[in-house]
Amino acid sequence: MYAQMVQSTGKGVKRLEEMSPQERAFQARIDAGEKIEPKDWMPEGYRKTLIRQISQHAHSEVVGQLPEGNWITRAPTLERKAILLAKVQDEAGHGLYLYAAAETLGVSRADLIDDLLMGRAKYSSIFNYPTLNWADIGAVGWLVDGAAIVNQVALQRTSYGPYSRAMIRICKEESFHARQGYDLMMKMAAGTKAQKAMAQDALNRLWWPALMMFGPPDKDSVHSAQSMAWKIKVMSNDEGRQRFVDQTIPQIEYLGLEVPDKAARLNPETGHYEFTDPDWDEFFAVINGDGPCNADRMRARNKAHDDGAWFRDGLMAHASKQIAAE
Ligand code: 3HC
Repeated sequence: MYAQMVQSTGKGVKRLEEMSPQERAFQARIDAGEKIEPKDWMPEGYRKTLIRQISQHAHSEVVGQLPEGNWITRAPTLERKAILLAKVQDEAGHGLYLYAAAETLGVSRADLIDDLLMGRAKYSSIFNYPTLNWADIGAVGWLVDGAAIVNQVALQRTSYGPYSRAMIRICKEESFHARQGYDLMMKMAAGTKAQKAMAQDALNRLWWPALMMFGPPDKDSVHSAQSMAWKIKVMSNDEGRQRFVDQTIPQIEYLGLEVPDKAARLNPETGHYEFTDPDWDEFFAVINGDGPCNADRMRARNKAHDDGAWFRDGLMAHASKQIAAE
């Protein structure tokens, strides 16, 4: 499959004849479906690509706590508050698994977090959009975690062992996240006229940013070809987006809401929905720091980090005392 890909695209992929014997042996392991473990030899590019992708993913989990965390105090019932608290807490756990997976590649969590706080690292574009009403909390769980699952289910098969194992665990929790979001949307869509309008409004605003989560179109994707040859990615950006649209439009119809994309239609021959692309100029603006909430998110993360300094200092002091006592 890899050789085929090299022949068919050649885009950004190191060709077999350009590889050293060690790189060829590594590629053969990947092609045979073996998992790569931290102490195994790996090309520097493989290691760097993994650090980039896993750390961006970890940052997304942590920054992703912010739009929902804002609503914990305003959840309308005790049950909804408990669910939201559990979900937001899960996201912190996901960040932790992912930072730990990245650390197996020889980087430190402190440095990765520093990159995030200094604005040097990316995190998912979706979290630079605001959550304006309670229905947004349902739409985030359903659409954002739903999109994340499409990607992450595929990533369970990624070639790097620690990343793959983190994904298996994360996917189980993400399923609960998406389910609770859809449950909230069902309540809103079946509620009063005003509640249904809130659900529709949330869907209209989050639909396009959810499509952007899968990354730029394949033709503009910088890393896909090499990442797929290394099986760091096992699905292209466009494939993921199509899967998401195919699974979500019937769910919108079941809710009795309108699909925000008026041109979307099922192609009976392919069995897939045809749909309109999101605004890619907006996407590139958002990932380059100019989205509706980028500055707010960075301020909030930096404040949380600064506010937690006393706790980290306490942990370090305790650890030093323990070492001194040994
Ligand atoms: N948001 C922000 N940046 C994005 C992006 C997005 N939605 N999509 C692409 N980019 C960035 C890439 O990181 C890359 O930037 P870089 O070169 O500066 O690192 C650039 O745009 C080019 O895009 P590519 O298609 O070449 O990038 P990738 O091959 O890395 O593909 C991806 C992008 C599909 C998002 C891939 O990185 C991936 O699968 N990542 C792991 C999954 C992930 O990060 N998910 C986050 C979702 S949110 C989440 O899980 C939280 C949960 O609680 C809901």
